[in-house]
Amino acid sequence: MNARRVALDGPADVAGWRASARALLAEGVPPSAVIWTTGAESHDLFAASEALPPVAGPPPSVPRAFLGLAETALLHSDPERFGLLYRLLTRVAADRWVLQDMADPDVARSNALAKAVRRDKHKMTAFVRFREMTTEDGACFVAWFEPEHHIVEATAPFFVRRFAAMRWSILTPERSAHWNGGDLVFGDGASRADAPDGDALETVWRAYYASIFNPARLKVAAMRAEMPKKYWRNLPEASLIRPLIAQAARATADMVAAAPLPEKRASRQMPRTDAGLLPPEGVLEALRAEAAGCRACPLWGPATQTVFGEGPADARVMVVGEQPGDKEDVAGRPFVGPAGALFDRAAKEAGLERRKVYVTNAVKHFKFEPRGKFRLHKTPGPTEIAACRSWLERETMALKPRLIVAMGATAARAVMGRVVKIGESRGAVLKRDDGPDVLVTVHPSYLLRMPDEDRQRTEYARFVDDLRLAALSLRDP
Ligand code: URA
Repeated sequence: MNARRVALDGPADVAGWRASARALLAEGVPPSAVIWTTGAESHDLFAASEALPPVAGPPPSVPRAFLGLAETALLHSDPERFGLLYRLLTRVAADRWVLQDMADPDVARSNALAKAVRRDKHKMTAFVRFREMTTEDGACFVAWFEPEHHIVEATAPFFVRRFAAMRWSILTPERSAHWNGGDLVFGDGASRADAPDGDALETVWRAYYASIFNPARLKVAAMRAEMPKKYWRNLPEASLIRPLIAQAARATADMVAAAPLPEKRASRQMPRTDAGLLPPEGVLEALRAEAAGCRACPLWGPATQTVFGEGPADARVMVVGEQPGDKEDVAGRPFVGPAGALFDRAAKEAGLERRKVYVTNAVKHFKFEPRGKFRLHKTPGPTEIAACRSWLERETMALKPRLIVAMGATAARAVMGRVVKIGESRGAVLKRDDGPDVLVTVHPSYLLRMPDEDRQRTEYARFVDDLRLAALSLRDP
């Protein structure tokens, strides 16, 4: 068979790879017969690339997990990645269980690429620092960053969510991302000299960083691993790190000598996350990225994606449900289906604004049983709850909420670490020594399933009362 050349639109052209790979697979083109090229390189080396024929018939079926893996791994800078993922695709199409074999060289390499990309994305969310510039249209914030992989397009939406009200640009050697408050556009790469060097904000940021730097938690090796030196030159706080480390031993001794915290506050302190130097939203974003590749139990296989928690990083209430349902699994967001609508309505009546609470689930993948065209919800078991519990704990550590609302038995079990009888525990705020207070209540799906309308009304009112308690407990200073 003649070699087939595929010219992609650029190094991050995942959609182009996907369309081409699908057509090649449908045609039965072996991986060894495909030459993948990108951007300038494809014009220089191969004057014309063959247009692939449209796919006839239904597209070959591949597990969703492969698509998730490919979407991330393809952003790696390894020039072999397109060929590697196409080879793996042909193998997965023949035997979908190949992906389960972590010792398989193609699977191991693809996972390693995806892991490196996730790490690079996490670094970008954590270490981009904007500097203010004044333009004709007003203030604009510009940042310089040097990613290792082709992650700018994939990571820019994080900054849109985080800094929606600002006009900003992130410049990198390969691509630039620009947000004007309404549109996100991408352009060519830039040079470091195009980004401003310092401004008044940096002085404020340095003062803030020095104030949150906790010498008692100083772990220099972990800090270097988390914040590698190559990022330091773009960080305003970098100039402070050395003197703060030097002062740390003396400052720790001073802190130990100082008066202890009142017992109650001290006992409720949560340990910091492994990314203790990041602001909570950075930690949550990093956790979300990590959880996207979670394989701790088999539920990830048939599910569309991990559905991680969402909400403001400074939320004082964390609401925990059971697991994503059919709608959530597709949308990738918790509580967007019928149970979510009921929760929203009840929360509003109780004076708890959904946009101010962090909403998550005990189990982050949809467990279901296929039934014809439908996917029927299945209750997660103790092993799945246990496998997922570390995500909930890490979310709690990053968020440090004042109150956790556990809706239903699965949530209560995951939060409390033991079986909880809802009938006995609901409606009272449980104080704990090792974490935030907990309010146990019923799950909204329990109300949706109730056949008797009168009973449903009564139970709904009790649910609103429980949520009202949560809202009230927040007013208590
Ligand atoms: N039920 C839950 O417990 N969580 C969701 O996200 C949706 C339905």
